[in-house]
Amino acid sequence: MSCASRRRRPGHPRKRSNHLESNLPVSELRTATVFSPAKINLFLAVTGRRIDGFHDLVSVVAPLDFGDRLIAEVGGKERIGPAQFSLDCSDPEVPVDGRNLVRKAAEAFVAATGWREFVAFRLEKHIPVGAGLGGGSSNATAALRALNQLSGANLGRATLAKLAAEVGSDCPLFLEGGPVIMRGRGEKIEPLPELAVRRLRGRPLLIFKPSLGVSTPWAYEQMAAGAPQTYLPVEEAERRLSAWIEGTADAVALQYNSLEPVVFRKFLALPVLLDRLRIRFGLSTAMSGSGSACFAWLPPGAPISEIIAMVRDAWGAGCFVRQAAVS
Ligand code: C5P
Repeated sequence: MSCASRRRRPGHPRKRSNHLESNLPVSELRTATVFSPAKINLFLAVTGRRIDGFHDLVSVVAPLDFGDRLIAEVGGKERIGPAQFSLDCSDPEVPVDGRNLVRKAAEAFVAATGWREFVAFRLEKHIPVGAGLGGGSSNATAALRALNQLSGANLGRATLAKLAAEVGSDCPLFLEGGPVIMRGRGEKIEPLPELAVRRLRGRPLLIFKPSLGVSTPWAYEQMAAGAPQTYLPVEEAERRLSAWIEGTADAVALQYNSLEPVVFRKFLALPVLLDRLRIRFGLSTAMSGSGSACFAWLPPGAPISEIIAMVRDAWGAGCFVRQAAVS
């Protein structure tokens, strides 16, 4: 999932003073490059609202074989001002200020470890934003991984998961590197049993997103406004999940998303296209997370160019379309 390089030139010994200040072991690494995958929710049951304002979930989430790339370089740029991090991004639409979760994750890492070196981040963005594909959360977890390598802090999985959960509900799932069951507000992660993973891994799908994005807080607020009839009772969510895990059915049988009705009510272009794809091609389709990205499983021999043509016809030539597979 990630690689790191040792780039220190001979004859240019590394400054160690900051490491000594923070009592961390010295890492020889100067650059870390981390793949930051997109995710889809194969099953997303919102089971109720919590007293902290978040929602309790039972979800099955799988990383995809496409995503962003985060490059972190120690002292990669001259340090300007007091900031410990710089961030640039290949997509000019993505904010690179304090709203970017890479920065939030880096700050959480520094607060936990006391590491003090300057790091320049470069984010190569391929995952669309406002999509429900977990791009920002995945980037944050990639930043934690990169800094863990570069600093030599070697934080364990449990500590990284705690930091990731502080940054965002969808961040901890990206530490697993495979399909997971997610519970609580997203902080309780368990790997999906191997027999179930085998039914998912490598399955091809088409991801598509209109130019509009959906705000995750807005989608959850709509759920809360329609409560309690919008929630799936937790017992029912767990029953459906264990029936699927113990059975032999493929991912299509698991498909459910509590947020679809609230998002579809406002963004009518989504259900209209998903229905057309079902009727014309017999595809199984769903929305991922809070949208607006949707996906269709691609059976063997699916007429991919005709399917893409239908998506572009409905949502415009500029919409995001990408073939991918569960990883
Ligand atoms: O945790 P994160 O910042 O990604 O969540 C964004 C927003 O989505 C939250 O502020 C909250 O409104 C909503 N949310 C929720 N329950 C969750 C996850 C997110 O209500 N389990």
